[in-house]
Amino acid sequence: MDIKHIVSQMTLEEKCSLLSGLDFWHTRAVERLGVKNVMVSDGPHGLRKQNDKADHLGVNESIKAVCFPTASATAASFDRDMLREIGENLGDTCQHEQVSIILGPAVNIKRSPLCGRNFEYFSEDPYLAAELSTRFIQGVQSRNIGVSVKHFAANSQEHRRMSSDSVVDERTLREIYYPAFESAVKKGKAWTVMCSYNKLNGEFASQNKALLTDLLRGEWGFDGYVMSDWGAVSDRVKGVPAGLDLEMPGSGGTNDQRVLKAVQEGRLDEKYVDICVERILSVHQRYFDNAKPDTPWDMEAQHALARQMAAECMVLLKNEDNILPLKEDETVAVIGRFAKKPRFQGGGSSHINSFRIESLMDALKGKENILYAQGYDIATETPDEALIAEAVETAKKADKAVIVAGLPDSFESEGYDRTHMRMPKCQVELIERVAAANPNTIVVLYNGSPVEMPWISSVKAVIEGYLGGQAVGGATKMVLWGDVNPCGRLPESFPLQLEDNPSFLSYGGEGNTAVYNEGVFVGYRYYDKKKMQVLFPFGHGLSYTRFAYSNLQVDKASLKDTDPLTVTVDVKNIGATAGKEVVQLYVSDVESEVFRPVRELKGFEKVLLQPGEEKTVTFTLDKRAFAYWNAEMHDWHVESGAFRIQIGKSSRDIVLEKEVQVESTVEVPRHFTADSIMMDLEKSEKAMRVLSPLFQQAAHQPGMGAEEGQSETASEAITEDMNKAMMMYMPLRAMANFSQGHLNYDMMTELAEKINQET
Ligand code: BGC
Repeated sequence: MDIKHIVSQMTLEEKCSLLSGLDFWHTRAVERLGVKNVMVSDGPHGLRKQNDKADHLGVNESIKAVCFPTASATAASFDRDMLREIGENLGDTCQHEQVSIILGPAVNIKRSPLCGRNFEYFSEDPYLAAELSTRFIQGVQSRNIGVSVKHFAANSQEHRRMSSDSVVDERTLREIYYPAFESAVKKGKAWTVMCSYNKLNGEFASQNKALLTDLLRGEWGFDGYVMSDWGAVSDRVKGVPAGLDLEMPGSGGTNDQRVLKAVQEGRLDEKYVDICVERILSVHQRYFDNAKPDTPWDMEAQHALARQMAAECMVLLKNEDNILPLKEDETVAVIGRFAKKPRFQGGGSSHINSFRIESLMDALKGKENILYAQGYDIATETPDEALIAEAVETAKKADKAVIVAGLPDSFESEGYDRTHMRMPKCQVELIERVAAANPNTIVVLYNGSPVEMPWISSVKAVIEGYLGGQAVGGATKMVLWGDVNPCGRLPESFPLQLEDNPSFLSYGGEGNTAVYNEGVFVGYRYYDKKKMQVLFPFGHGLSYTRFAYSNLQVDKASLKDTDPLTVTVDVKNIGATAGKEVVQLYVSDVESEVFRPVRELKGFEKVLLQPGEEKTVTFTLDKRAFAYWNAEMHDWHVESGAFRIQIGKSSRDIVLEKEVQVESTVEVPRHFTADSIMMDLEKSEKAMRVLSPLFQQAAHQPGMGAEEGQSETASEAITEDMNKAMMMYMPLRAMANFSQGHLNYDMMTELAEKINQET
């Protein structure tokens, strides 16, 4: 289909009508020209297709579907293949249901544990978020279904989500908030991007040209279309040339009329309308050319897959005395409402109408030696004495007690943020009382975001199950009894308390202004720099077996920033059970002029090892692994010097490291003036070429060099080092200030210009 030709045959009215949706989930058609419409639907951890009453908050029913583990859980898998497989399954499901685009993945960064939508997001770490979400995209799109990467950009809070202005500096955006989107476009070739509700640095994302055109298309090469988040459009006429192609949901044509009028009155060039329409139709054509409505949808098979995946996402946080896995002959008291009615997804637009929900108690049906007590109610936070007493009695009768706890739906959801990081009081009290009654108490958590654990030292083991999808109960059983060896790792730090989080002082913002004050120091980048104690660090997760690392090798000890570096390390299963290890590679800049985190994740691989088995894991690092974003150059830059390549079991547990020297191939361009200081001039070769001869001359002039006849006390008091240190901060103009009239300010300005012109 020749899209350009078709668009050229359309009237202006027809073109404008295509700039917004027909309704909540469909685009518009132009039947006269054979232009069909398509359906888009929410994801991202399942399909939320609404055939009847539509809404964007998960209020009305959608068709029965399969709820896979949410991103909070899949991020903990550190497993690229798993994300790809979920994507493939959802792509097939969309083909079956004739949905051309699934609205996800959601790749915003977890700036604070409070964000209500954290359960939909991947990580506090941009590399992890980028790697996993890109695989999901590749999986979906391998089925000729498009994704909509959302919410672009810097949409890390729900508070005032439709009006707040995220104020974020350039370096922080590039290093933390953009990479997952950048990877989605460059590597994932995402068909569409969804702009966020918020403003970014003063301009709504839906009309932000710098974001939607200059960066997304100009720099990253995006060739799909941008749709608005549902209701994110403010000034539609401004949005069209800024790069917002499709407004969703349809505004009943009112905004299209405004665009039409703007073109008719000469306020908007028609070419922008043409471009939007062409982009929208070209992406839809990709679907039409490959539509396969006869693709089967096997929900049973997906349920089984979701169960296995949820198990491989679970993170074993603590396992004192190897209390887990449970043994077949032990009597186990299962306690907690969530064991019968699990929390496995969050509220809002991603809410899936699961065709089946499998609880832990469902999975344990027919198993002997299992006791149950409800323990708490989800409708209230207040401890229920009768329920707790019953739970305590049940725990006393068992060898081990497993409490299934976490956060109720009302605690975290799309649309609002949490105000604290605590679990409901009734659950905290239950855990303390059961643990006092049975020393072998284990806690399983279902929550989308970190919680404080004041009870941590009272219990022997903790499994973080996150929001693990509809088969989470079966998955929990598999991990508890050791059918699956836990292999998840934390995709975020668990601080001891909310106040420790780097964004605590400014999260949510004042009024509509949310300044991202902590800059690049998000999550472990902050806790590690501050050497702060955390409850559990980024990357942490235990196993029922043990792994040993050895033989860390780099293929070169020194390299240019344009050279790739190959790193290999051996990892061996030295325990008695097969298991998967997540080998994590961090890069640490030893000395740096800019403020940098202590270390940053730049590689990870998940490997399956049989008992006694050893494998070599290989990583290839490129310039980005060493670079920071230089806001003067508006580019990635590597500072020459030493870097440590670190292999860790978490950001806090580095087991092997090797140093390499990296040499920059680019000099940071500097513009000098008479106010430039010696310290900066000294670092520039061209400055020194001009200045060195002058310094030598000046040393012999009165007032400029070491004076003869200085008093003994002064020369003793001011050492050469002190003198040098003071000189470092002197501006160039000081040569004039102290020259007793030999030199003047204008001469120093000329000198600075001479340096600038030096090649
Ligand atoms: C959410 C999006 C979602 C859209 C459609 C909005 O409220 O922010 O993530 O895709 O609704 O339901």
